[in-house]
This record gives sequence, structure tokens and C-alpha cells, in this order.
Amino acid sequence: MTRAVIVGSGSEIAPTRVTNAQMARIMDTSDEWIRERSGVEARHFATPEIATSDLGVAAAEKALAAAGVAKAEVDLVVFATMTPDHYFPGCGTLLQHKLGLRTVPCFDIRQQCSGFLYGLQLADAHVRSGLAKTVLLVGAEVHIGFMPWTRENYAYALGTSDVPPTKEEWDWNSRFRHLVVLFGDAGAAVVLRAAEDGERGVLDHELHGAGADYEKLYVPGTGFKHRPYTDPEQFKRGDHIPVMDGRHVFKMATTSMVEVARSVLQKNGVAPDQLKLVLMHQANQRINEYCAKALGLREEQVPHNIHKYGNTTAATIPLLWDECTRDGRLRPGDLVLMVAFGAGMTWGASLVRA
Ligand code: COA
Repeated sequence: MTRAVIVGSGSEIAPTRVTNAQMARIMDTSDEWIRERSGVEARHFATPEIATSDLGVAAAEKALAAAGVAKAEVDLVVFATMTPDHYFPGCGTLLQHKLGLRTVPCFDIRQQCSGFLYGLQLADAHVRSGLAKTVLLVGAEVHIGFMPWTRENYAYALGTSDVPPTKEEWDWNSRFRHLVVLFGDAGAAVVLRAAEDGERGVLDHELHGAGADYEKLYVPGTGFKHRPYTDPEQFKRGDHIPVMDGRHVFKMATTSMVEVARSVLQKNGVAPDQLKLVLMHQANQRINEYCAKALGLREEQVPHNIHKYGNTTAATIPLLWDECTRDGRLRPGDLVLMVAFGAGMTWGASLVRA
């Protein structure tokens, strides 16, 4: 039996670290509120010259080096992001070109916070079917383009300007405070290789998609439902910034993540205490604490890094994988469950033997 084994990982964090206290310089929020409600203590944002594909490329270089895999061996690229460099083309071919890969198929995945797991199933299916042998799977995001503040406000937050926001700017930034404090920029990648008859590899997946509640978390503007698809009026209304009903998303995320995790474990006859790690999407520490408790997991089984990076959307799960591999919490042979919930709505879980 052919399985896709994760043989290497790498990650790249955007350079500018922004603390909660810095965010509170330009909007009505506080370090205490953000920490208590989400677990986020700081996030990193990309500088203007860095795009999503660049974070993906840097992460992919490290993943290939860690795997000891040559670029010429990669025969499939899967790139998950909800913040692509351009409306089109997606980041897949940009990464192919920047990395100097062969002209291999490049898929772009846009299932937001579930993007990595959707990409993992696609990569796994290609390997199992024999269509691919060496896959580069990348999740990367640059969310700073969603942020409502002006350049001057951002400089004030970072302490490089003495000009505080006007009352109007303060109110505008504060309108989006429940959303903007949660996100950060990063890229992470894994290399998957076909292996025959071994224990290791991707074992099973369960993915879901349901659009009934899509307006609870979506970007109302800059889409082809509008003609033209973007215009200054949409920008003035703030329609280029995501709308999020936090409470609704919180409830859906906790319910769906627990259900799908239980389902995958039951189908594979795995008890929660047999798992070395459960890599949960990092949207809110409270969501993950709830899920961990409902699934009966021990604290050391559920690593988190939301306090350092915030929600990096498609990058959260490979970023955790990479951190845990580098610090020795994850070793070859360990059984790992990955679980995510994201806009769409989309959710899923994957069971992997490292
Ligand atoms: N700073 C200070 N106060 C804030 C704030 C901020 N950044 N954001 C919201 N508030 C205020 C609200 O205005 C509200 O005030 P009110 O009681 O006077 O009306 C109060 O805090 C409570 O807001 P609420 O939205 O009920 O808080 P919450 O406990 O649900 O936490 C989220 C908000 C967004 C952190 C939480 O709902 C969440 O994380 N949801 C899931 C989001 C998610 O997962 N998104 C990504 C999907 S993959």
C-alpha cells in the first residue's frame, strides 16, 4: 500500500512583531481583553515588500532542506492561502517559479483556516493514486492587507511616529477590533513522499463544507458579485475587510471540531490517549481548550502557538508541526491528529503517523 509520509517541514514568520499593547495605541482594545478572550499576546506582520508567496517560498526552501529532497524531485505543488498575492493567478505557480521547480501541476486551495487539511487530502490522494511521488504542500498568509488602519496609524502603533490617530481613525479602527487583533502573518510547508508498505504516513481524513452560514465569516466586497468587482465605495464602507460574527463562529468551531475529531478517531479505532499530539487550528485558545476538554486530551497533547503568532489561517497547522518537530515534541512514528475549522464554512480532521 502506498502512503504519503511527511518527510520534512519548514516555516517562516513575518518580521514585524506587534504586541497587544501596540494595537491598543490605535484602537479601543487592551492587552487584557485580547489575552483573555483569544490567547493572543503578539502577532507578526509582513513588511511591504513581503507577499504571501514569499513567506511560502521561504518556508518551502526550509522544508525541502529538512527533508533532504532536491527541487527537481517535486512533482506536485499545493498552495493554501486566503490572502494570495494577486486576485489571479494563485500563489502555486508563483512559488513554482520563485523556487525554480520543474513545470509541475500547481493547485491553489482556498478553504481558509481548513486550507491545509484540504490540501493534505488532495496531496495524499495524488500520492495514493500514483499521480505524484513528492509533494510540496504550503500554507501561507499575509493578513496585514485586511487591516483597517492607515500607514501613519501603524507607524504610531510601532512607535516610529509621534502622530496619534484622529478621533475618526480611532473609531474606524475600533469598528474592526474583534477581528483584527486575532490575525498574524506566516508561512509553513511540508514535503510529502510516497512510501510503500510502511506504518508511517497520512492514514485518514474527514473533510466537510457547508455554505449555509457563510455570511458569518466572509469578505463582503472585492468579489465578482460586484460590477466592477472593486471600487472606491466598497473601500469607504470597509467591505474589503472580513465580517465576522465571533460568537457564531466560536460555537460552530467548537461543535464541528469535536465532532469531526471523534469521527476520525472512531473510524480508525484510536483512543484519544493513543495520540502523541493533536494539532488544532490556532484561531482562539479558548476554542481549543474547549475541544481538548471535550475530547479528554491532556494538556501536553495539545501544543499551541497562538500566543506568539495569532491566527495565521492556512499556516497554523504546518507551523505547529514544524515547531514540534524542531523541539522534539514530535518524532517519527508518533500518531498525530490535525483538526481545523474555517470560513466557508469548512472543517475537517486528518490522522497522520509522523
Ligand atoms: N477589545 C476590547 N473589546 C472588544 C474587542 C477588542 N478587541 N473585540 C470585541 N470587544 C467587545 C465587544 O464589543 C463586546 O462589548 P459589549 O459587551 O459592550 O457589546 C465584548 O467585547 C464581548 O464581545 P464578544 O464578541 O461577545 O466576545 P467574545 O468573548 O465572543 O470574543 C472573539 C470575541 C472574536 C475573540 C471570539 O468570539 C472568537 O474568537 N470567535 C471565533 C473567531 C474565529 O475563530 N475566527 C476565525 C475563524 S477560523
